[in-house]
Amino acid sequence: MTAVGIDAMEVWTGKLKLDLAETFAPQKGDDPGKYTKGLGLHASSFPDAYEDIVTMGANAAHRLMDRKGLEPEDIGRIDVATESAFDNSKPVSTYIAGCLEQVYDGDFHHANKGERKFACIAGTQSLDDAVNWILAGRNRGRGALVVATDTALYARDDAGEATQGAGAVAMYITEDPDLVELSTEQGYGSADETDFLKPNQQFPSVDGKRSIQVYLARMREALEDFESVSGKSHPDDYEYIPFHTPYPGMVRKAAVLGYRHMIRDTEIEAELADQIGTQPRREDFDSAEAFEQAIRDYMDELKNTEAYREWYADTIEPTLDISSHVGNWYTGSVHIARMSALRHAVENDVDLAGKRMLVASYGSGAQAEIHAETVQPGFEEEVLASNIDEQIDARYDLSWSEYEQVHDRHNHEKSVELEPFTQPDSEFVFDGWGPMNERK
Ligand code: CAA
Repeated sequence: MTAVGIDAMEVWTGKLKLDLAETFAPQKGDDPGKYTKGLGLHASSFPDAYEDIVTMGANAAHRLMDRKGLEPEDIGRIDVATESAFDNSKPVSTYIAGCLEQVYDGDFHHANKGERKFACIAGTQSLDDAVNWILAGRNRGRGALVVATDTALYARDDAGEATQGAGAVAMYITEDPDLVELSTEQGYGSADETDFLKPNQQFPSVDGKRSIQVYLARMREALEDFESVSGKSHPDDYEYIPFHTPYPGMVRKAAVLGYRHMIRDTEIEAELADQIGTQPRREDFDSAEAFEQAIRDYMDELKNTEAYREWYADTIEPTLDISSHVGNWYTGSVHIARMSALRHAVENDVDLAGKRMLVASYGSGAQAEIHAETVQPGFEEEVLASNIDEQIDARYDLSWSEYEQVHDRHNHEKSVELEPFTQPDSEFVFDGWGPMNERK
């Protein structure tokens, strides 16, 4: 079967930064450790006055097209994944295509455009759609542009305010990709949930504590479903496991759950039995509650074993670096976790080509998807071409009162005037409603 997957990837971070330890924690009267250690977040990205989901998505896509020498003719499909859309009819992909058409000779009249919505998992769903389109032989030699773009803002004083972020990821999906090949085996866990939703409202209504439990429950189901098609997973099967990362602390909880599942009935469980016993079995307990408690106790012990710590440091920690500096990008989040892992491999000379990653996506509402990816020999060149570190370092560091102004501006659909903190540099900017998104 033809290899299909991600050929290239570019990111665009919002150009402003809120430092959680220096700026956010003192205002909340909290110990900075709650954010840097508990949530695992140092800073969040925010859009400047001239940025929005369209400009960030178009700028990421333009960087990608420019670097890969792509013309509109090479792209047969543009899908945008977002949970920050401002238009219930016209998909954000048409706005982004409109921006790109300002700088290329050709246009995208031939391209099928759409918008995917299922909270944060929509980015991965768009990726799957693109892969399926190519595998079905409908692409006529063209690739697909997938853009995941979001401004993840919460109401002021909501518990989620610490986990905000803004940015876009653009991916080019082709045959014989340079970055990763996607397996056609996927596992899902899905249920109608109301822990996080935005019914015609700017900021989400969130039951934060429950959202954590829903994430974990759907992820467990997705892993079981994945194994029903791929066979049992073992921790050594995967070099890295990028998870959807609303904040790194969430991934800490998901990782131990995944590890427990993967070591069941393996030599690792047997080796750990002397220290922490073997895993609880349902048949040994009178009630589901007692069994669940025993599992939680086992995982608490497991987390402190050397075997787990080593696996976590090698397989999970490297996926969290970018997220810990930019916050939650919703639909782009799992994709920057993958990028973080690939970058770690390049920086540490990990021989990754041909190795597998397990990618664990999640969207509130709620659905999880697990699939495997095989890293391609061209990955190193792709990673080295990314300028994510420079983008992160170049952000303007907001004071608290500046943050309040930025939050108000994006809260009120841009009707609040705000002088930009940075200068645009050969990029698309939001320039009011019609004509919009001029390139400056
Ligand atoms: N030093 C070290 N750690 C500290 C600390 C300190 N001084 N103070 C607190 N902590 C720890 C806490 O013990 C806690 O750790 P555990 O999670 O391991 O228990 C952690 O820091 C966070 O502290 P709190 O639980 O008190 O934080 P909170 O109640 O203020 O908010 C939250 C946490 C519920 C996640 C909130 O940020 C939120 O609502 N976020 C938005 C929803 C969200 O992201 N949910 C995740 C799953 S849903 C999803 O993934 C979709 C999505 O993208 C939104």
